[in-house]
Amino acid sequence: MTDITIQTQAALAAIAAADSLDALEALRLDTLGKKGWVSLALKTLGGMSPDERTAAAPAIQSARAAIAEALDAKKAALETAELDARLARETVDLTLPAQAAPKGSVHPVSQVMDELAEIFADLGFAVATGPEIEDDWHNFTALNMDETHPARAMHDTFYFPDKTSEGREVLLRTHTSPVQIRSMLAQGAPIRIIAPGRVYRSDSDATHTPMFHQVEGLVIDKDIHLGHLKWTLETFFKAFFEREDIVLRLRPSYFPFTEPSVEVDVGYSNEGGRRVVGGHGDAPGHAWMEIGGSGMVNARVLEFVGLDPAEYQGFAFGLGIDRIAMLKYGMNDLRAFFDGDGRWLAHYGFSPFDQPTLSVGVGAKA
Ligand code: PHE
Repeated sequence: MTDITIQTQAALAAIAAADSLDALEALRLDTLGKKGWVSLALKTLGGMSPDERTAAAPAIQSARAAIAEALDAKKAALETAELDARLARETVDLTLPAQAAPKGSVHPVSQVMDELAEIFADLGFAVATGPEIEDDWHNFTALNMDETHPARAMHDTFYFPDKTSEGREVLLRTHTSPVQIRSMLAQGAPIRIIAPGRVYRSDSDATHTPMFHQVEGLVIDKDIHLGHLKWTLETFFKAFFEREDIVLRLRPSYFPFTEPSVEVDVGYSNEGGRRVVGGHGDAPGHAWMEIGGSGMVNARVLEFVGLDPAEYQGFAFGLGIDRIAMLKYGMNDLRAFFDGDGRWLAHYGFSPFDQPTLSVGVGAKA
């Protein structure tokens, strides 16, 4: 037997006998490691004449292959044994009293979505949904933002590499407005819906997270005007914040899909470092805070979905759910919403029995 064969057999025996992953690693270093004897033997091939190399190489190569295979097999076996031992060692005591287990709670965002649905249902709105993975036609084009529209670039969009079968870009929706398009295409007019859900933009700091929540509102009917929009938002916010002194300010603004467009501000005061909504924003000790965008649906958008702007008009709005949740329940950092910290959830979360209803109250905490 050659030296290589003897050495290989010794190594294979040692590998078979190894009783821990550490011991196995030491054997790997001894053989296939940078300074292991197999590696060193392979290096000597470089200094040989072609004839010598042809004679010596196969033995070294097959030693390396056999040892590598044995190391892999043994490693898998040791890992399985270790897992089995752990599974046998670690047990779950199912007889522990249930109180010791962590209690789940309803996230404030989910609670606020239920509150929204309850209030708007009372005003005759249905809840609509749409896909979070959208195409650029629904998210932009049909909302009067063609490929070259500068507003597209402002949306910090997450794109997918694929395209739809119609050749449209695929993206994570940047707002809930595409649900306007889907709802109008599916049911025509008249229409009265809200659409709460997740939206995505590549943005992150104390008041922006890459995923956040919006609620879209859409009303299409005959003879709808800006007064209906203002009344709807005011009525909603009075019910949502459960106070009568909510004052809204509509500020001229621009969105490609509404004309005219208005931004909505709500009056608030600072009480002990906490923002409390209510009162006129220009009153002493008060200020205005922006809570969303809205406007009359642009005639171009109605044409995109096949409605006649001479017959139908309507309004739309988009509110940040996380923002109005922060205002109502007093959180000051948006990022904590999505940390999944059990202490935060225990403090700000709701009991599943705490169903918001208009008769009991949409904000009462049991
Ligand atoms: N989609 C707009 C945004 O996300 C908000 C909006 C909705 C504005 C509906 C007007 C009408 O910024």
